Amino acid sequence: MLQRTTYLSHSYGKPESWTLAAYEAAGGYRGVRRALSMTRELVIDEAKKAHIRGRGGAGFDCGTKWSFMPKESKKPHYLVVNADEGEPGTFKDRTIMEMNPHALIEGCIIGCYAIGAHAAYIYVRDELHLAKERLWRAIHEARARGYLGRTPFGGNYAVDVYVHTGAGAYICGEETALLNSLEGKRGEPRLKPPFPAQYGAFGCPTTVNNVETIAIMPSVFVTGGDAFSRLSALHHFNDGGARLFGVSGHVKRPGIYECAVGLTLRELIYDLGGGILDDRKLLAVIPGGSSCPVHLPDEIVNVPNDPRFEPYNGKSILDLPLGVDTFRAVGSMLGTCCAIVLSDVADPVLATQNLIRFYKHESCGQCTPCREGCGWIERILNKIVAGTATMDELDQIHEIASNITGNTICAFGDGAAQPMLSFVKKFRKSFEDYVLTGGKSQTGRLC
Ligand SMILES: Cc1cc2nc3c(=O)[nH]c(=O)nc-3n(C[C@H](O)[C@H](O)[C@H](O)COP(=O)(O)O)c2cc1C
Repeated sequence: MLQRTTYLSHSYGKPESWTLAAYEAAGGYRGVRRALSMTRELVIDEAKKAHIRGRGGAGFDCGTKWSFMPKESKKPHYLVVNADEGEPGTFKDRTIMEMNPHALIEGCIIGCYAIGAHAAYIYVRDELHLAKERLWRAIHEARARGYLGRTPFGGNYAVDVYVHTGAGAYICGEETALLNSLEGKRGEPRLKPPFPAQYGAFGCPTTVNNVETIAIMPSVFVTGGDAFSRLSALHHFNDGGARLFGVSGHVKRPGIYECAVGLTLRELIYDLGGGILDDRKLLAVIPGGSSCPVHLPDEIVNVPNDPRFEPYNGKSILDLPLGVDTFRAVGSMLGTCCAIVLSDVADPVLATQNLIRFYKHESCGQCTPCREGCGWIERILNKIVAGTATMDELDQIHEIASNITGNTICAFGDGAAQPMLSFVKKFRKSFEDYVLTGGKSQTGRLC
């Protein structure tokens, strides 16, 4: 169901939208005042009622995650905001930091208070220079106005926010690699448990949240958790509120659109994205960043034994509302909710080669199946494209990707394997054509 909202995007495109004056003129810093007047427990309850599923990709409920932080602890607690945003096709957090940075700062104060932290670190991808500049500016403005520091809003709960620059490695978006990088160590994922809530930044209890997850919190506290959740057509799946949807690739109007949760891919691609570029045919869509499986427009939803899927069963996947559990139930992933659209000018084999080149380059190399598997698949795909691969080698892609899945410390391995498995399965004939015709059958198409 298409329902546009403007909780985060009201300021997008407006002059000086990133300033404190503009943010307050639009009603900013009201949510935090309400949160600070409540107990920590009630703040967490309110966040739980909003059913904000983590916007970083895994879709874990934010209020529940906050509740995992120890109640009694002698160590300092930290909030770490994941602003690494390196997933191909994903560019939503950047828009918040550049055009509405005070929403993130306000959300940080609420988040810190909820988890008993006095400091928030925003870990920003190195390349996002404008985002860093605007965040620092917003922090200075908030400090000068007495919203950050020892006595925010005249109260006695000290909070400060710092921007930390990453170094442009995709793996540093994985929360424990990010924590290592924040500590000045090599950005490699940690074994879990212990989870960050027990042993996070500098060995202290830490919550890691995505930029959008935190930036939406002020709106939750202005609107009320339950009312905010009910904006969503998937409220009954405990997937609440509104969120940023991205669409890129072969559409006429690529961009970021804010809507109530429950939007479908068809609405995102055709109503918001303006339809397929040059009025061509839709070939395929990756729903939420490159680590999700690819889908064909003629795929049909079939989730028996769950009455919540009654309205969607038998329909095209394009008409299934974009939700964490709806997409999980059909063997897919919502991811970051930023869809990549391929029209029929795209060559799915070259697209697969393009993707594995990225994952091979970005694998941190810590786990053998991922380090060796990504390189191996890349070599096979290079041979397929060059027209020198055999059918056996084509079949090996499935085997290698299956051996990466579930056999690595972090989810990077699964994220690399999923697109490989789904592209090879769903475009089997295109891959076979390359092998059988020596790579000449598809010349002239794009990746
Ligand atoms: C390879 C990899 C890269 C990731 N990159 C990001 C990222 O750039 N931003 C992000 O918020 N989460 C990213 N994540 C997910 C984080 O590990 C973590 O789940 C998220 O920051 C939690 O925030 P949320 O609960 O608010 O979604 C990544 C995960 C993996 C495995």
